[in-house]
Amino acid sequence: MVDPEWHDFYEIGIDFIDSDHRELVSIVKDIERTEKNTDYKDLQNNIIKFIVKAREHFAREELFLSEIQFPDLKNHIQFHNELLNKLDIAKRLCESSTDEQGADQCVEKMIHLVVEEIFKGDIAFKGFLEDEGYIQ
Ligand SMILES: [Fe+2]
Ligand SMILES: [Fe+2]
Repeated sequence: MVDPEWHDFYEIGIDFIDSDHRELVSIVKDIERTEKNTDYKDLQNNIIKFIVKAREHFAREELFLSEIQFPDLKNHIQFHNELLNKLDIAKRLCESSTDEQGADQCVEKMIHLVVEEIFKGDIAFKGFLEDEGYIQ
């Protein structure tokens, strides 16, 4: 099981980004909890909530990166779009999961996406923020 907990090393140092990320982790924990309780209706609702929040977060982050003229913005936007596609595939997998094992796999996928990709992906611009003095 991939760890859905928040860790300090996820911290980017920009308040709105960190609070968005914390919120995403918290929804992923709700996803995990509802799956464990085999509460499939709530599970679907949490997954939809997660995708809506992820979309909003990506848009906010892209606007910020464009304002500070992050040179690799194009790649980061592409990365976000790929994540949204993967989230959509994971959502469909979740919707078609009728048994415990299927739901388990779908939740694993959602957790993996948020932990392994959203945070590791944002490391891509952390160095730039440091170099430009936006964070210490
Ligand atoms: Fe990002
Ligand atoms: Fe982010």
